[in-house]
Amino acid sequence: MNFGHFNPVNKEYVITRPDTPAPWCNYLGSVDYGAIISNNATGYSFVKSGAAGRIIRFRLNSMSNDQPGRYIYIRDNADGDYWSGSWQPVCKSIDSYKSECRHGTAYTIISSSYKDIETRTLYYVPLDKNYEVWNIRIKNSSNNKRHLSIYGTAEFTNHDHYENDTVNLQYSQFISKTYFKDNHILQVINENGSEASSDVEGTSNKKGDPIYRFFGLAGQSVSAFDGERDMFIGNYRNYGNPVAVELGKCSNTVAYNGNSFGALQTDIELNPGEETEMTFLLGAGNEDFARNIISKYDSVEKANICSCEGFCNFSEVVSHELTQLKNFWHSRLDNLQVETPDDNFNNMLNVWNAYQCFITFFWSRAASFQYCGLRNGLGYRDTVQDIQGIIHLDYKAAKERLWLMLSGQVLNGGGLPLVKFDHKPGQEATPDESQYAKETGQSFYRADDALWLFPTVITYIKESGDWNFIDEKVPYADKGEATVYAHLKQAIQFNLDRQGSHGLPVGLFADWNDCLRLGSKGESLFVTFQLYYALKIFKEFATKKDALADIEWAQNCLNELSGNIQKFAWEGDQFVRGFTEDGYTIGSKSNSEASLWLNPQVWSVISGAADEKTAKTVLDKVYDNLNTKYGAMLFYPAFREYGLPVARMSLFNAGTKENAGIFSQPQGWVILAETIIGNGNRAYEYFTEINPAAMNDHAEIRKLEPYIHGQATEGIDTLNHGRSHVHWLTGTASTVMVSMVYGILGLQPEYNGIKINPCIPSGWKNFKMNKVFRNTVLNITVDNSQGVEKGVHYITVNGKRIDGCYISADELKDTNEILVVMGK
Ligand code: GLC
Repeated sequence: MNFGHFNPVNKEYVITRPDTPAPWCNYLGSVDYGAIISNNATGYSFVKSGAAGRIIRFRLNSMSNDQPGRYIYIRDNADGDYWSGSWQPVCKSIDSYKSECRHGTAYTIISSSYKDIETRTLYYVPLDKNYEVWNIRIKNSSNNKRHLSIYGTAEFTNHDHYENDTVNLQYSQFISKTYFKDNHILQVINENGSEASSDVEGTSNKKGDPIYRFFGLAGQSVSAFDGERDMFIGNYRNYGNPVAVELGKCSNTVAYNGNSFGALQTDIELNPGEETEMTFLLGAGNEDFARNIISKYDSVEKANICSCEGFCNFSEVVSHELTQLKNFWHSRLDNLQVETPDDNFNNMLNVWNAYQCFITFFWSRAASFQYCGLRNGLGYRDTVQDIQGIIHLDYKAAKERLWLMLSGQVLNGGGLPLVKFDHKPGQEATPDESQYAKETGQSFYRADDALWLFPTVITYIKESGDWNFIDEKVPYADKGEATVYAHLKQAIQFNLDRQGSHGLPVGLFADWNDCLRLGSKGESLFVTFQLYYALKIFKEFATKKDALADIEWAQNCLNELSGNIQKFAWEGDQFVRGFTEDGYTIGSKSNSEASLWLNPQVWSVISGAADEKTAKTVLDKVYDNLNTKYGAMLFYPAFREYGLPVARMSLFNAGTKENAGIFSQPQGWVILAETIIGNGNRAYEYFTEINPAAMNDHAEIRKLEPYIHGQATEGIDTLNHGRSHVHWLTGTASTVMVSMVYGILGLQPEYNGIKINPCIPSGWKNFKMNKVFRNTVLNITVDNSQGVEKGVHYITVNGKRIDGCYISADELKDTNEILVVMGK
């Protein structure tokens, strides 16, 4: 079943039926002012922190209608009938109520059409601003004059910390009140002073000061208001039938205790064909701030930015801000655009996977409809991986974040599990000190954290050409500073210093898999292959630096590691997953549970530790035993007997998440691994299985947004094989992006040039890529008339023929016409 489609020209996803199988969301704003909005206008907003700077309330996991949200009601005063500008919360029958939601890059437009009244509401956060705009146009398409009342509503939190707001009502309900100020409701929390509000730097207030929020109306005058939620909704009612709308009159009362709320009513008349506009504004700030912002949107001077017939024009200020937003996002996305024979591939690579990479990059695993935003910092491994997803689109932003993460590395080489939002390089406590646990709730190192730096650093250097980065000095988190090169060496040392009885690195509190607790003696093959990869990359850097002792050191480590892998972890046709402290082999083929694991097989290939024959053997085994029509399972069979303390995933229902589910993040790795050995058809098959866009017409099975990767899909042991969970903030965005860009499309920058070495389905006979590479434009056409999966015969650059797939940077002009001829 299909609920919408992609609009590649506008870079939008258009939802044509509002009763989607789950709320299908979009992210607006930035980490300074964040807003999440669904296709039915549900969602929440916050300043700086989803948990500690919450402005409007959202009830996670509330029945099937996630509520509340940014609701605007429309009432026909002739007969008292009312509805909402988004299908929820009034939920008129979709036979008579038509609605469309266009999610775009940092804006969402929701339209409704009911009883010949059309509305179009544009929601966005202006670039670099800390408030949000709900701009609504209303048109009378009937032949009669219409008398309407419009009500905008926002359910404020009573406390800026969501937890206090939600569960500590004996306090939070008595520190908040609202005022009516002509064109806005002003909410004040802690007007009498506070002992403390949130401790998060930069949230809406400073310690001791009151917190102000406003909900205002520009472009029309307010005819009535409600500053108290229960007066607006009424007792024993809900958002679907608020008493104020039913009666056609807000009560003009403010909140003093209870629940602060913003409801603004305006009464309008529209002649046949007439349309009008108004703008609701929500943000954190006092009366002066609010008045200032609202006045900006009072003018409804039109600026027509759309060429389609009518009802598309925005007022000048809104149109200007929307254009700014689009320019900001599209200029980044346009750094790589492709036209392959598969629209689902194109829509993801060109827009949605790329946009998701940025959102995950900015927000880490903070706020969504599953995460409330409690985590006070950036998870090390997640963030370093997330960077990889945007390097090809914005290497400058990548470098900044990479520098921060390097400065979150402890002098002993390990990564801080969480790099706090107010991270102070050189002054942080480490997981070895109780202070760190007190600040972050984390008290252990993970074995993999700093090893993610290797693929990220090398990708950054090769994309940007910034080789000097390797010698840049960066502080450690706790003390001292060193060059990036030395940071990397230290990261390797961290794992060399922590080895088990087979001479392989131990798994500590977790390796990539949060549910695998191998501790300080149990060994992890995932980390082993990561370490192998790290050593190879380090050796490549050492070679480029002519650091002979380091080259020799790295090679010796590689030899030793590879010997131990062969001796202890290879079972003839697969690698095991690890060894527990008490000698149990996880992922041995003789086990009755979890006998084959995806990650060690694919990482043996990605790391280069597996030779060609081994690579083929293990990937075939994965394909034959772990692949399903919705992607490859993390392992199989699920844990049912073996469990705690090592295998925490056994707590999950079989076939779910880390317990034999189709965990999404590794899907990018399996695609990448297949491209490394030249299996373009199989890589593409895996890609298609997990491509959200490819599930567009089966959205009732996958349930999540068809334009967004989720954290996991249910495996074959569950009742709902194919259903996906945990939208938006997942490392899948970056791993799949990496597999598409570097693997399938084969766009592989080198220190002084770029390789173009696609690995594609043999059915792709021709495709185009436009890439910005270090300020030059590459217009690439790939000719695969021979129908191969991998292999480049020759390339022409601006007419000049080059054998093989490498183009030196010296060959490049500002704009380049490149033909890549695949085949023998
Ligand atoms: C989640 C975590 C990530 C972890 C993965 C596997 O996605 O955010 O850090 O690697 O689960 O357990």
